[in-house]
Amino acid sequence: MARRKKIYEGKAKILYEGPEPGTLVQYFKDDATAFNAEKHDVVDGKGVLNNRLSEYFMTGLNNIGVPTHFLRRINMREQLIKSVEIIPLEIVVRNVAAGSISKRLGLDEGSPLPRPIVEFYFKDDGLGDPMVSEEHILAFGWASQQDLDDIVALALRVNDFMSGIMMGVGIRLVDFKIEVGRIWEGDFMRLVVADEISPDSCRLWDVSTGQKLDKDVFRRDLGNLADAYTEVARRLGVLPRNT
Ligand code: C5P
Repeated sequence: MARRKKIYEGKAKILYEGPEPGTLVQYFKDDATAFNAEKHDVVDGKGVLNNRLSEYFMTGLNNIGVPTHFLRRINMREQLIKSVEIIPLEIVVRNVAAGSISKRLGLDEGSPLPRPIVEFYFKDDGLGDPMVSEEHILAFGWASQQDLDDIVALALRVNDFMSGIMMGVGIRLVDFKIEVGRIWEGDFMRLVVADEISPDSCRLWDVSTGQKLDKDVFRRDLGNLADAYTEVARRLGVLPRNT
């Protein structure tokens, strides 16, 4: 079979040209990376789990009217997505202190935050995705004030949805990262949630034991990453089948 044209290869995913104009195929690899790819491993089955979990979250968001790039899953490792113009920002929402905010502000990991906090990072691997303020985003023209307002509203809706889903299966959504893209429909521009939503880009703690069920298992050598992601998928009822 003729292979599709590769558009982009990242650390955990590959994008191929899609079957119709305006579409792409997103392929989930088994590669796990951390600390800006200084740490790397291959975790058997991670791509399959993330493909399923991202399908589950994005479908749920589409269903409640939060637009995403997701169209449909194609097979175990691939999904059909809308082609978008990615805004070069990583948008992080935090409910509980952990990771870089704990380090930066000297907060104990696990201490609740007064309200969900939205942060922006400039998406640039070469620079290690530095944190940026709205001032930088506006001055450098990465997004307009209207885009920023819409991005924050989108991120908080994703937080509400994801927190509720996870709480329903005994998991606390500590924080997560999303990416947002633009889709043009004539003169009209729409912002949609893009990339993936999976345990690679969230912190997920078991409510009763505090057990970590996310990429920190890999970052901090806490056990088997695929087992942690399988537990999330099992609780949500999205265990992979063979197609
Ligand atoms: O490292 P930090 O605490 O800033 O990460 C916040 C959240 O964003 C975590 O859930 C982490 O997995 C996610 N993240 C990500 N990709 C990055 C940086 C952070 O998915 N490049």
